[in-house]
Amino acid sequence: MVMKILWCYLAILLTVSFGIVQGSNNVTYDGRSLIIDGNHRILFSGSIHYPRSTPEFDFSGRRDLVRFIKEIQKKGLYVTLRIGPFIESEWTYGGLPLWLSHIPGIVFRTDNEPFKINTCNGKRCGRTFKGPNSPNKPSLWTEDWTSFYQAFGEEPPHRSVEDIAFHVALFVAKNGSYVNYYMYHGGTNFDRTASAFVTTAYYDESPLDEYGLVSQPLWGHLKKLHAAIKSCSKTLLHETQTTFSLGKKQEVRTKNNTRVRKSRLNFSSSEKWKMYEEAIPNYDNTSLKANTLLNQISTTNDTSDYLWYTLSLLASSSVQSVLSVLSRGHVLHAFVNGVLVGSAHGSKKNPDFDLESNITFISGINKISLLSATVGMPNSGAYLERKVAGLHGVKINGTNLTNQSWGYQVGLLGEKLQIYTDIRSKKVQWNSLGSTTKPLTWYQATFDAPKGHNPVALNLGSMGKGEAWINGQSIGRYWVSFHTPSGIPSQQWYHIPRSLLKRSGNLLVLFEEETGNPLGITLDTVHIRSTIKRHG
Ligand SMILES: *[C@@H]1O[C@H](CO)[C@@H](O)[C@H](O)[C@H]1NC(C)=O
Ligand SMILES: *[C@@H]1O[C@H](CO)[C@@H](O)[C@H](O)[C@H]1NC(C)=O
Ligand SMILES: *[C@@H]1O[C@H](CO)[C@@H](O)[C@H](O)[C@H]1NC(C)=O
Ligand SMILES: *[C@@H]1O[C@H](CO)[C@@H](O)[C@H](O)[C@H]1NC(C)=O
Ligand SMILES: *[C@@H]1O[C@H](CO)[C@@H](O)[C@H](O)[C@H]1NC(C)=O
Ligand SMILES: *[C@@H]1O[C@H](CO)[C@@H](O)[C@H](O)[C@H]1NC(C)=O
Ligand SMILES: *[C@@H]1O[C@H](CO)[C@@H](O)[C@H](O)[C@H]1NC(C)=O
Ligand SMILES: *[C@@H]1O[C@H](CO)[C@@H](O)[C@H](O)[C@H]1NC(C)=O
Ligand SMILES: *[C@@H]1O[C@H](CO)[C@@H](O)[C@H](O)[C@H]1NC(C)=O
Ligand SMILES: *[C@@H]1O[C@H](CO)[C@@H](O)[C@H](O)[C@H]1NC(C)=O
Repeated sequence: MVMKILWCYLAILLTVSFGIVQGSNNVTYDGRSLIIDGNHRILFSGSIHYPRSTPEFDFSGRRDLVRFIKEIQKKGLYVTLRIGPFIESEWTYGGLPLWLSHIPGIVFRTDNEPFKINTCNGKRCGRTFKGPNSPNKPSLWTEDWTSFYQAFGEEPPHRSVEDIAFHVALFVAKNGSYVNYYMYHGGTNFDRTASAFVTTAYYDESPLDEYGLVSQPLWGHLKKLHAAIKSCSKTLLHETQTTFSLGKKQEVRTKNNTRVRKSRLNFSSSEKWKMYEEAIPNYDNTSLKANTLLNQISTTNDTSDYLWYTLSLLASSSVQSVLSVLSRGHVLHAFVNGVLVGSAHGSKKNPDFDLESNITFISGINKISLLSATVGMPNSGAYLERKVAGLHGVKINGTNLTNQSWGYQVGLLGEKLQIYTDIRSKKVQWNSLGSTTKPLTWYQATFDAPKGHNPVALNLGSMGKGEAWINGQSIGRYWVSFHTPSGIPSQQWYHIPRSLLKRSGNLLVLFEEETGNPLGITLDTVHIRSTIKRHG
């Protein structure tokens, strides 16, 4: 847990050669800059979250901080550590272990004056930063947002390279002596580590993208900017400044690249697939009971995205009724007598939502099973310990059922049995693919790794919402059916690090909440195509 919640900043460029990093360095500071072994320095660094990359990819040990730091030292770079436990970073619950919220009287994240280290985070610190809160502290830009994280249902973020470079130069011109790019290297939110509504691909628009591929012109432009600043860093650090105006715009040529994906394998033959239907629990077979609607976060403790709320109701005859459900987030699938009667969800900006559905009761006992799902815990804001999710109101024909006896099941049966692993998948009976798809279905298929070294991604464009595993390792949540305002999926391709793949016989398991079509899935490789563009 401690390993998981320490983040590192890699100091790149303008720093040091191997020799200097070896042995102990004396790091101090004054009002101008950080001082390393007696020398003032202008430093640039770039954020990488080591658990968001795989060990074999760039660093050793996805959660092995010691190995990670040794790897950085080997490359002759410095590290700036930002120590947890709270990291925000779009990590579920900001990296705090959820059990902390159960400690009586605990308060997270309040406004506390003596605790505050003032630096600048944002996109325009050259303009917005009022300076350090003491003349003896240097001007540091700890998070220069190269783009932004993406949430399901929202448009992809974009920040132009010109804007980034301009604001870095301005910050340095105004006595700034440290800029950290957040993020410099994107990553993958494996498992269920993403915070509320955040996509699996993380800061994919960074100078090094989710796959570690160079993104041009961003990467090259910043490299040149750093070299230019380095060449005059002595002057910047030790001389006084004057201001003069420049002439007209110059012509520039930029080398751009775009990512292309090539489909290498498809899963269009139904013989490739096997399926397993998740059991829908009812009131009688749930063990946890309460005479109220429970808060999902304190009930599941984030051990699973899923919490079933179940209820039994007696009807004297077959009647039409209106089911209305109020939720504080994030997703709901409602079943009556095992049949889906409606689904609804909230969004990053507004996780609360209602579902209203016309249902037909049968004469006798009716089984109402409501599957509430979270899509990551919140990661920011004050008082995280007070956050809630799940259902807070259920009515049938206007009758408030909140005080009824509810039965609960935390998580899915398939999760409990871990049927996404090679060995445990054999514990349940898988069937061949039917002609229609049902909600809440597990799918499995095997495939061989595509030849070559290009990064690999799963194109889940034909699916709805769920989670995907490769050889037992979760590669994160997918949510293709939640479109951006311009009508396309927020994320269609899901990174499979090559280090997770064997040459042949790789096990792909998907849990699909909706009625996505697994036959439309393809396995793609990711390539870079360069172009040159002139700007007048
Ligand atoms: C580190 O450097 C500062 C000033 O730059 C000096 O005062 C201090 O004695 C040095 N510490 C060590 C352990 O060398
Ligand atoms: C930069 O530092 C110099 C020397 O301390 C000071 O005179 C100047 O006002 C500073 N510039 C800005 C923009 O803060
Ligand atoms: C190349 O990058 C520049 C700078 O980001 C951008 O203005 C331009 O539109 C890009 N050209 C292409 C063809 O993508
Ligand atoms: C899927 O792949 C097979 C063989 O690799 C090919 O024959 C078939 O045309 C492909 N189907 C689709 C829909 O691309
Ligand atoms: C609960 O009972 C239903 C049928 O009454 C069955 O389909 C389902 O598998 C059971 N669920 C569990 C988790 O045992
Ligand atoms: C969640 O944590 C609480 C308090 O520690 C505990 O009572 C409860 O059993 C836990 N629930 C689960 C599903 O782990
Ligand atoms: C719900 O209201 C409808 C229309 O008023 C009525 O026909 C139906 O019997 C009611 N259902 C129940 C369970 O009372
Ligand atoms: C439920 O049925 C009524 C009457 O047919 C209709 O007006 C209403 O739009 C329906 N509501 C939903 C949520 O489908
Ligand atoms: C339903 O009852 C609960 C418990 O008394 C109450 O908190 C809630 O506000 C009620 N809901 C509505 C919509 O009236
Ligand atoms: C639910 O129970 C609480 C007390 O436990 C009571 O105050 C409230 O009025 C009840 N609500 C309904 C809708 O029955």
